[in-house]
Amino acid sequence: MEARHAVVGGEQIDRVLSHLGSRSIVLVGMMGAGKTSIGRRLANLLHLPFLDADTEIEKAANLTIPEIFEHYGEAHFREGEERVLARLLASGPAVVATGGGAFMSEETRQRCRENGITIWLKADVPVLLERVRKKSNRPLLNHPDQGEVMRRLLADREPIYRLADIMVASREGPHQAVIAEIVNALDALLRQRSKP
Ligand code: S3P
Repeated sequence: MEARHAVVGGEQIDRVLSHLGSRSIVLVGMMGAGKTSIGRRLANLLHLPFLDADTEIEKAANLTIPEIFEHYGEAHFREGEERVLARLLASGPAVVATGGGAFMSEETRQRCRENGITIWLKADVPVLLERVRKKSNRPLLNHPDQGEVMRRLLADREPIYRLADIMVASREGPHQAVIAEIVNALDALLRQRSKP
């Protein structure tokens, strides 16, 4: 609520919501980019539900993500991820935080195009590594050289993340600044697209 008054005007919020209609704001980007923490705050500011794909996958499977990877493998996780995102994207408007690999699916990207506006939260490898360091819940980073994994994943994924509608740099510092940038970019894009 505070952020609403601090950085983004109510009029702008109302305009974004009205142009958004039933579509969702979908955050994509690497592990550690801040999709969940930024997404939760953005949803709060816009008074939209916040949906976290990883959490929804865990609920649906009644298993944690490391357990899904361990017992069934990554391919099975990706299938579940596609199904869960299809469901979440059909229930907009909301702010949806995706897992770092979700946007690599052509099917998911198509659904995002139909039902959402995608925002790539872009951050550099040192920032990503610093942010993921504290948690051990990401099976892909269960590797002695997390830096190497992160650089390889980013190199593979960056050309795909670039397909998102909007790119916002996820820097260090107050979340409000990143959120204000997202709202401004959304406002500009949605106004542009709503022109006859
Ligand atoms: C993954 C990212 C994770 C989670 C899973 C796989 C990835 O989500 O979906 O561990 O492939 O980058 P976060 O991006 O929220 O960490």
